Amino acid sequence: MLVTGKQILDKAHKEGYAVGAFNINNMEILQAIIEAAEEEKAPVIIQTSEGAIKYAGIDYLSTMVHLAARKASVPVALHLDHGTTYSTIISCIRNGYTSVMIDGSHHPLDENIAVTKEIVKIAHACGVSVEAELGRLGGVEDNISVDEKDAMFTDPDEAVRFVKETGVDYLAIAIGTAHGKYRGEPKLDFERLDTIKKLLNMPIVLHGASGVPEDAIKKAVSLGINKINIDTDIRVAFTEGVRSVIINKPEEYDPRKLCAPAKENMKKVVKEKMRLFGCSGKA
Ligand code: G3H
Ligand code: 13P
Ligand code: ZN
Repeated sequence: MLVTGKQILDKAHKEGYAVGAFNINNMEILQAIIEAAEEEKAPVIIQTSEGAIKYAGIDYLSTMVHLAARKASVPVALHLDHGTTYSTIISCIRNGYTSVMIDGSHHPLDENIAVTKEIVKIAHACGVSVEAELGRLGGVEDNISVDEKDAMFTDPDEAVRFVKETGVDYLAIAIGTAHGKYRGEPKLDFERLDTIKKLLNMPIVLHGASGVPEDAIKKAVSLGINKINIDTDIRVAFTEGVRSVIINKPEEYDPRKLCAPAKENMKKVVKEKMRLFGCSGKA
C-alpha cells in the first residue's frame, strides 16, 4: 500500500529502528526492492533523484511505483531524493509522490530555513511529507580535520532552530558519511548524532550509507537514525550481475538474461540491509 514517508518514519522513530530508502532508476531495481520488502515484511521507501527523473521520466517512475505499491502488502512511500528546485518538487507532488526532500544544505542557514519552510507549507497542504538537510556531507576521499568537521557537520543548536522554524518531518544530518564508494573507512560522529537525536526527538536520516561498516550502521540506528539512504550498493550489485553474464556468456544478447542475475544480486543486498537496519518484520 502507498503511504506517506511520515507514516513510515514516525513508527520507526517510536519503535527504534531504521527503514531503507533505496534509489531506483528503472523497473528492475524497483522490482528487486519490492520483492525484498515483501519477503522481509518490511516497510520501504522508494526514492528517485532528479537525475533518475531526467533519465526515466517522472511519469514512468511514479506510475511504476504506484503500481508496485498498490500490489504490495507492505507500506511503500515514494520519495524525491535531493530535490533542489521548486519546479521539481511541485512536479513530484503533482505526480503522486508521498514524500519530498528539499536539499538546501549548500545554502547558508537562514536561506536553507527560508527555502525549506516554503516547501513544507506547500507539501503539507497536499498531505506530502518533507525531508530537509542541515550540514554538508563529505567527499568519499576526505580526511576531515577537527575544524573542517565543525564547519561541515550538523550543529545541534542550529538543528533545533531549523526544525522549529521549518516544521520539517525528518532531518538529514551530516555526521561523517559521504555519497558514493569510500576510499578509506568512514568515521561517524556518534556523539553528535546522540546529542541531535535527544534534542530533536524526531526521525533522523542518514545519507551516503553504502559502504559504511555494519557495526557503525547498527550503532547509528541504536542512537536514533530512522531512514537510511542506499544507492551505490545497489548500483554495484546491478552492474556486477550484468557484467558476470557479459563475461561468462559473451554470446548472450537477450536483455532479460542480462538483467535476471542483476535483479537477484540487488534483492539479496536489499534484504541484508533491511535485516541490518531492523525493519524486517515491521510492516
Ligand atoms: O545522493 C545521490 C544519489 O545517489 C542519487 O544519485 O543523482 O546520480 O541519481 P544520482
Ligand atoms: P550512497 O550512494 O552512498 O548509498 O548514498 C545514497 C544517498 O544518500 C542518496 O540520497
Ligand atoms: Zn543523499
